[in-house]
Formats: sequence, C-alpha cells, structure tokens
Amino acid sequence: VLAPLIAPSLLAADFARLGEEVAAIAAAGADWLHLDIMDGHFVPNISFGPGLVKALRKHAAIPFDVHLMIAPADPYLAAFAEAGADVISLHPEAGPHLHRSLQTIRALGKKAGVVLNPATPVDCVAHVLDLTDLILVMSVNPGFGGQSFLDSQLPKIAALRRMIEASGRDIRLQVDGGVTAATAPRCVEAGADVLVAGTAVFGQKDYAAAIAGLRAPART
Ligand code: DX5
Ligand code: ZN
Repeated sequence: VLAPLIAPSLLAADFARLGEEVAAIAAAGADWLHLDIMDGHFVPNISFGPGLVKALRKHAAIPFDVHLMIAPADPYLAAFAEAGADVISLHPEAGPHLHRSLQTIRALGKKAGVVLNPATPVDCVAHVLDLTDLILVMSVNPGFGGQSFLDSQLPKIAALRRMIEASGRDIRLQVDGGVTAATAPRCVEAGADVLVAGTAVFGQKDYAAAIAGLRAPART
C-alpha cells in the first residue's frame, strides 16, 4: 500500500505568521512544503521570492518544493537553490529551452520538475525524462489557490503514470490545484504519488487531521 506524499501549499497560509505556519505544518506531518512563486506576468498574481524562501528554511527540516510560475525562470534558478529549495519545478512555457533549464537545476544539485498546465500535452516531457525528477500536473490554471479541480486532468495523470513506468525511471508524479479529501483519491487512483493542497490543509483548523485525510486514500 503506497500512501501519497502530502505537500501543503504555503500560498494558503497566514502570511503574517509564515515562520510559525511552516513549523506547524511540518509538525502536523507534512512530507514536503510547496512554495508557489508568482511574478504577476507568467500568472496573474504575485506571491513571494527567494528571500522569503531563505527566511523560512530554518523553520522546518522537510524538503522545500518550489513551484516557479515566473518567466523567464532561468535567471532565478541559482537564487532559489541557494535559498534552500530541494525541488525546483518550472513550466515549459516559461522559457525556450526546457532541457537547458532542467540541466541547470540538476547542476545546482537540486531535483528538477516539469509542470504541465491544463492545456499542455504530456509529450512536452517525453524527451527530457532523463533530466526530470518530478512531473507536476496542474489540475487548475496556475495563479490562485481555492479553485475547483479539473476532472479533465485525470486521464493526463494516468498517461504520465504509464510513461513513467515505461521509462523505468524514478520520477515523482505530483498534482496541484483543487486537491481535497474528495478529489485526492481520484488523483491517487490515476497514479499520482505527491499531492499539493493549499486551502484543504491551511484552511482547516486541525492541520494534522487535514493531512491525514488527504493521505488516507492509499493506492494498493
Ligand atoms: C496555484 C498553485 C497551487 C495552489 C493550490 O497556482 O500552484 O499550489 O496553492 O491551492 P489549492 O490547493 O487551494 O487549490
Ligand atoms: Zn503550486
């Protein structure tokens, strides 16, 4: 029985108490911390940058999973690596040379992730699997928390699971957007092994119960 890893998204935390929030979510059993970086250009919202990631690093020991929604991303990869990111994921649409960006992340000693928007085909990653540690399927359009899960992305998750298995590579398959106790089991059944959840965790009073509730629908 494989339970998914749970990566709460800091975007839904109390921004006035971020250090405490990070410590609390780690103590509540979060596997990773998901950090959404938005530039007001690639996506229609602005969040925070490497300075905040660095400031939060000392508040928890769990892996920091940095989701870049910025364009261009390449000029900032080193800054996020130095800030303490463990995984750095970017969208193919953020720059002309995805392969080069993934090489750069790997050269910085970090895990490299590719993020697929709802309309982005799975073929985007087919020829860079050797440089990919994680594939993130967006189950909402990126930019905001609290949106509704797009069922149309479930077949994409399943297709990517097949692609990963066929490759024989050790690649994580993550889902982000609208993941709740109701939608999580469907993501896991389709083949996801890391679930990002913002409002479904930080929007609850009991973080430990919220995380356990997302993890419960285990894949057998
Ligand atoms: C959206 C972000 C998500 C967001 C998820 O652009 O990538 O990580 O925080 O929020 P929920 O879980 O509330 O949909
Ligand atoms: Zn995200």
